[in-house]
Amino acid sequence: MNASRSTIKNLRNFTHMRDIHLSTINCKKVIAKNGKNSSSTRWLTRQLSDPYVEKSKTMNLRCRSAFKLIEIDDKYRFLTAGQVVIDCGAAPGSWTQVAVKRVNAVALNPQEPRGIVISIDKQPIYPIEGAIIIGNADFTQQETHAKLIDTLQGRKVNVFLSDMAPRASGIKEMDDDKMADLCYLALRFALQVCEVNACFLIKLWQSKYLKDLEQSVSQYFQTFKIVKPLASRSDSAEIYLLARNFKGLCKT
Ligand SMILES: C[S@@+](CC[C@H](N)C(=O)[O-])C[C@H]1O[C@@H](n2cnc3c(N)ncnc32)[C@H](O)[C@@H]1O
Repeated sequence: MNASRSTIKNLRNFTHMRDIHLSTINCKKVIAKNGKNSSSTRWLTRQLSDPYVEKSKTMNLRCRSAFKLIEIDDKYRFLTAGQVVIDCGAAPGSWTQVAVKRVNAVALNPQEPRGIVISIDKQPIYPIEGAIIIGNADFTQQETHAKLIDTLQGRKVNVFLSDMAPRASGIKEMDDDKMADLCYLALRFALQVCEVNACFLIKLWQSKYLKDLEQSVSQYFQTFKIVKPLASRSDSAEIYLLARNFKGLCKT
């Protein structure tokens, strides 16, 4: 996730580079020391030629993922000033940066209501002005849920975001299982803390679990759709499920 540090590390492995400039047009070819097209070589080539990477640097955003949220929200407009947002799997923090701005969490616009963004990740998150950061917190652990509830201090959530993804093992079945577990966990938790009419946006992978998850979400939200923003790489199995208008839980 720390792109600049790993980029520097990767750069050390290259003896020969051609045409590397930090622009889309000129980043053409990276040749590894051993002449082979290793995965780190491919990663670096892709990073250097990715317009979103470049754009995120110029806009001072922590990573290219920001543009996935920007794109989805520009189209569906669910983030507004004054909202309470939970951002799960928030490190390094680019979604949080976007959310802070859109819900007016730093009160940059004093005429608008001030929102709240609570960001958690199992990795540490460097502070972001306007956000309440809960780093080193695994969402699969009950104590993380307790911390979130504590931080909410009785407030209800208007937008629940999850960009969480398990570390891929390469074994598809196992990775899909883990991703589905995270999605269901996020859904279950969101149901407990969300306000009626809240919005729920989660990352998932195209897998055999998709239909069941859609079915579950449709029980609790009036509408949902699957979205694949342009900023999400076309060769990635990731997609996003955007559910709107939480119906609320029936009190028994
Ligand atoms: C794609 S990154 C998120 C990028 C982030 N949305 C941004 O814009 O900066 C996925 C994150 O999910 C986190 N994650 C995965 N499993 C998690 C878990 N069980 N609890 C908390 N965070 C988790 C990872 O640590 C990683 O930082």
